[in-house]
Amino acid sequence: MLKSILICILGATIATKAPEVVVDSRQNASDRFFPGDFLFGASTAAYQIEGAWNLDGKGPNIWDEFTHSHPEKIVDHENADVTTNSYEFYLDDVEAVKNLSMNFYRISIAWSRILPTGDIANINEKGIEYYNKLIDAIINHKLEPMVTMYHYDLPQDLQKLGGLTNSIVISYFEAYANLLYDRFGDRVKYWITFNEPGDFCTAGYGADQHAPAVNAHGVGEYLCGHNVLKAHAVAYRLYRSSYYEQYKGQVGITLSSRFFYSDSNDTHTVDRAMQFSLGWFANPIFSPAGNYPAIMITSIASNSIREGRSWSRLPSFTDKWIETIRGSADFLGLNYYTSRYVEVNPEPKGTNPSYERDINLKFVIKPEWKPSASNWLYSVPKGIGDILRWIKEEYNNPEVFITENGWSDHGELDDDDRIAYLHDHLEQILDVVLSDESNLKGYTVWSIIDNFEWTQGYTEKFGLYSVNMSSPRRERTAKKSANFMATVASTHRIPEIN
Ligand code: NOJ
Repeated sequence: MLKSILICILGATIATKAPEVVVDSRQNASDRFFPGDFLFGASTAAYQIEGAWNLDGKGPNIWDEFTHSHPEKIVDHENADVTTNSYEFYLDDVEAVKNLSMNFYRISIAWSRILPTGDIANINEKGIEYYNKLIDAIINHKLEPMVTMYHYDLPQDLQKLGGLTNSIVISYFEAYANLLYDRFGDRVKYWITFNEPGDFCTAGYGADQHAPAVNAHGVGEYLCGHNVLKAHAVAYRLYRSSYYEQYKGQVGITLSSRFFYSDSNDTHTVDRAMQFSLGWFANPIFSPAGNYPAIMITSIASNSIREGRSWSRLPSFTDKWIETIRGSADFLGLNYYTSRYVEVNPEPKGTNPSYERDINLKFVIKPEWKPSASNWLYSVPKGIGDILRWIKEEYNNPEVFITENGWSDHGELDDDDRIAYLHDHLEQILDVVLSDESNLKGYTVWSIIDNFEWTQGYTEKFGLYSVNMSSPRRERTAKKSANFMATVASTHRIPEIN
């Protein structure tokens, strides 16, 4: 405070002599506040925390099927049949978010809990009841619910039809979205259609790392992406035409991306990497012209021709679809965890199609980047600021929510590395906010509790709270980082750390 008063006085006395001296509020720690309307929240996803995989009428989804039939694909051979049992203990999670003085809780709805076969013909009222209780609890704790409709967990019966590679899924998703708006729209003002389509399309349809393990390299991921973009847009348009008037909520999509750097300042290579990762889904929705990024269209078409085809593996949109998808989001949800340096590969060899072959880049990790418990996650705080600036430039300053950011370890309660990661990322974000370099509305930590980390099972922990997995009561215990985030959310300032 004293320092800022001094700066004001000094600023006033020297003003006439040196008008070019501007006091930059970013240099003064006591002035570094997040704006009053900036929102803080924490996130979870249904499959990772709910358990109750076959209770009260829930139908199986592709992750139930994958973990049951291929336990060897999960590091600790585990599944999320029970996991942290938030189906029973959801109140603990809501209270945990509330204890951190946050503004919102980002959850997801398990499609097959309310539509066991994915189809609107068979509504499971018990499932609806569960989400009514959860949403009401969030609101009663004076938190805002932010609800993701699809977080990796397609109803298994829809996979029998080809899942996200069959365009019929657009109609199924529309009916599902309609049901969600109809039953929960009076209380939910932030909707996210899909979480990380680039990831679940490549890992689940292009490869066999994630459910449903289709492994159709270079074809499956683009078909999946194409249908997801259409399903997203249809769900957005439905809200605007039938629900917005009454409920005044917002509908967005969550995309994940790293930021990319080049040692040789090769902006073409950086742009190529950004367009193939964030641009794949963001360009059709947020760019002024819509459609896939030009670099994806031309690269995939020319690879396809080289492979002997007369068609591109990247499907094309009609003009009508370009229009429907363009502008179909009120905000961009961004999941940012880490970054990479990129170098161009020589011309792709062979004819085996794949996303890797299409992007044709080498990704480099710098030795000075701190590693986490996840083999892909290194701390690169600068990347979160740079990606926010890139989004502002590329997409004409859309509203953005950081819908995930977080750090994995092995479950320490004194989680100083997580605090350092959150601290350093929040500092970058605050720089961007204070200098108006992004239309950023809020920040979400992944995750409020340790949970089932997909193929890593329970071996990597991202929570601000640990969960006692050997007790049937699954007690939650705050880690040191919970304290840190409570200070940030309640004071809107970033406490200093050693
Ligand atoms: C992104 C996903 O949305 C979430 O489900 C996952 O647990 C985190 N990243 C950490 O890997």
